[in-house]
Amino acid sequence: MRHLDLDLDVDFDERRLRGSVTLSFDRAAAAADADDTDDVVLILDTRELAIHGVDCVGPSGPIETSYRLGRVDPVLGASLTIPLSPDTTQVRVRYETSPDASGVQWLTAEQTAGQNHPFMFTQSQAIHARSWIPLQDSPGVRVTYAARVRTPVALRAVMGATNDPTATAGDYVCEMVQPIPSYLIALAVGDLAFQPLGERTGVYAEPSVVASAAREFEDTEAMIQATERLYGPYRWGRYDLLVLPPSFPFGGMENPRLTFATPTILAGDKSLVSLVAHELAHSWSGNLVTNATWRDFWLNEGFTTYIERRIIEELYGRPRGEMEAVLGRQVLQGDLDRLDDPDEVLHVDLTGRDPDDGMTHVPYEKGALFLLHLEERVGRPRFDEFIRDYFEAFAFQSIATADFVSYVGEHLPSVNPADIEEWIHRPGLPTSAPQPESDALCRVEAQCSAWRDGSIVAATLDTGAWTTHEWLHFLTTLPEALSLDQLSELDAAFGLTESGNSEIAHAWLLLAIHAGYSDADSQLEQYLTRIGRRKLIQPLYEALVTTPSGRERALAIYRRARPGYHPISVATIDPIVGWIS
Ligand code: BES
Ligand code: ZN
Repeated sequence: MRHLDLDLDVDFDERRLRGSVTLSFDRAAAAADADDTDDVVLILDTRELAIHGVDCVGPSGPIETSYRLGRVDPVLGASLTIPLSPDTTQVRVRYETSPDASGVQWLTAEQTAGQNHPFMFTQSQAIHARSWIPLQDSPGVRVTYAARVRTPVALRAVMGATNDPTATAGDYVCEMVQPIPSYLIALAVGDLAFQPLGERTGVYAEPSVVASAAREFEDTEAMIQATERLYGPYRWGRYDLLVLPPSFPFGGMENPRLTFATPTILAGDKSLVSLVAHELAHSWSGNLVTNATWRDFWLNEGFTTYIERRIIEELYGRPRGEMEAVLGRQVLQGDLDRLDDPDEVLHVDLTGRDPDDGMTHVPYEKGALFLLHLEERVGRPRFDEFIRDYFEAFAFQSIATADFVSYVGEHLPSVNPADIEEWIHRPGLPTSAPQPESDALCRVEAQCSAWRDGSIVAATLDTGAWTTHEWLHFLTTLPEALSLDQLSELDAAFGLTESGNSEIAHAWLLLAIHAGYSDADSQLEQYLTRIGRRKLIQPLYEALVTTPSGRERALAIYRRARPGYHPISVATIDPIVGWIS
């Protein structure tokens, strides 16, 4: 598959995308040999699509052809098999999506900030593109695309592609001229305003959100320049951000030219912008050099987490980078304590599994530690050069773990192959693993112990200069089993129940659930019904269901919150609370 032409109507009343995709492809040599037989077929991925017809396009124009939809696999969906006549080089599939498409969320006006217009967005990673476009849905296949999207006149369509911020009137044309994997194809439609940040950067968001988003993201151009200094030119032209409604199931998604982001990072003090650094870093690690299969996901996320920390260090200094590295090491430890050995391996075996299930901190944080380890082995200047060359060597290609390993073998010959083998194929962490350290967080730990052993009261803790990171470390270092008096004392001193920072509120609510601190009850309910970001809500539901009365509460809250959650979050939370639909 080489190129897609999409032509879609966005129907909010029926919650469907309706139209066609025309796929252009190369005919491989083997298929060309077999041309005089009947068995040359094109096989596409689909999930819950209604196929209205298929045309083979050749020199004499489109000719309607037969097709066959395969048996539905719960993870992969259904194959769409199209027989190809010898001169066919393009296939057009006419189709519409299901209102329950796993890769599309349709929001009512009430679920948006403005309350006036509906909203829709897609989320294709890992294998959800097939739920809104029939295509070869593998990260090993790259395509360029052009799209024409018709929307209700009041709404704007944007894609992870070229967008015209001045276009209006419900008819949008977008283009992606660089070849990308299918999981990066993305569309959003809503009442969107645009505010430029710099020459090549800007923010799309609902009108009431766009100004605060622009303030939060004002360092974006500086981040791009820092990354270019380290790893070579930004190759995608513009870099814009789209702030989605709070049901967006992830923190961010690195759609090319247009990062999709949760509004929960709008903290007012730029304390959560490492997410922007992360999604921006994917413009090199992931979008330029792509994991060929989902087993190689650590190549995307490990590199990106490593680069994210380097960007943060460049912009905000070493202490902040160190704090983020220590916090990352901690969440990794949480996973290593919980996961079975096979899931602790970077080159993870996903046979028979949904790639969404393999989403732990291991590819992110163990991957980043592995790269930090290589950096420590060869020195930072040499390692920076190595990564720069790696991006150049594999630009616009999809590569597997083995490609990376042989590239390291060739270009960093001083690194011991047994060492690499251990990092990539064994569970846990090698004993030689780097140990991130942060003086600032050590001071927080000292304060934490002093309060716990009663030598100081909460109100006199030395928190004046604490940033979000220190607060997060403080709250996650506290034991789960705090008394109600202890929670009241902290709350009285710091107003934690009222925190408007989504991460601090999350850490606090977790403690509140464990202690049965009812003063936070209504905050918890509001939080879980307003936010749909999986990382923030999943642990809260998990904590709630550990007691019988908590399970009942979880179900009561979930009953109200579930209609507003994205299919991806629903798929995660349903089994936790024992939801039966
Ligand atoms: N590409 C991921 C999101 C993703 C991964 C979606 C796998 C679907 C399947 C994105 O870059 C990411 O990692 N987002 C993180 C934030 C980041 C700062 C760790 C998230 O959403 O939490
Ligand atoms: Zn990522």
